[in-house]
Amino acid sequence: MGNFSKNIHPTFDSILSRDEKQAFLKQNSVCLWLTGLSGSGKTTIAKGLEKKLLDNGYFSQLLDGDNVRTGLCNNLSFSLEDRQENIRRIAELNKLFVQSGIITISCFVSPTKDIRQMAKEIIGADFKEVFINTPLEICEQRDVKGLYAKARKGEIKNFTGIDSPFEAPENPDIEIKTNEQTIDESVNQLYNQIITTIQFK
Ligand code: ADX
Repeated sequence: MGNFSKNIHPTFDSILSRDEKQAFLKQNSVCLWLTGLSGSGKTTIAKGLEKKLLDNGYFSQLLDGDNVRTGLCNNLSFSLEDRQENIRRIAELNKLFVQSGIITISCFVSPTKDIRQMAKEIIGADFKEVFINTPLEICEQRDVKGLYAKARKGEIKNFTGIDSPFEAPENPDIEIKTNEQTIDESVNQLYNQIITTIQFK
């Protein structure tokens, strides 16, 4: 709680409920939290899933690091402390969407166990950890944005996997091995593993 909490009067209990919004949207919301190295395929899979969900009548919101860092989090660096604040804001944002009945597909490196644990504590039981498991060598070979080359030359500091840690999840709810299947197969795997959760009952 901030210092001004005594002057703040939340209205969470009087706004329309999540149940009413889920009924309107005919879906159950959930937060799909995609974690993995830069270039692992998080956003690619998320885009495919977003499209497949819409085609099947489900409403979702894709959130990703490169986008959010141009707006809501544009004052944050890649130090571990700023990544923590980045994820705190994003987790709160996810919570708002999920409370509105919207499925979130969140693509953030979220590199440490502590950072993901914080997101899980903010979001609660709706948080589903999806590990986009692509080995560092493959991400570096792909180097779609040219960032690994820059990091190796020392032109970018604190780059995840190079000079900043990535702690792989030990017990993710879902694990996707992108080097063993096509993008479509990865999208279908994720869709099939969440469909019973989001189906409106
Ligand atoms: S997080 O660690 O705070 O979760 P976030 O997902 O928001 O990171 O941003 C990661 C994206 O920022 C990467 O996909 C990459 O395009 C870009 N980026 C720029 N600098 C770095 C860096 N030092 N480490 C990781 N990603 C970086």
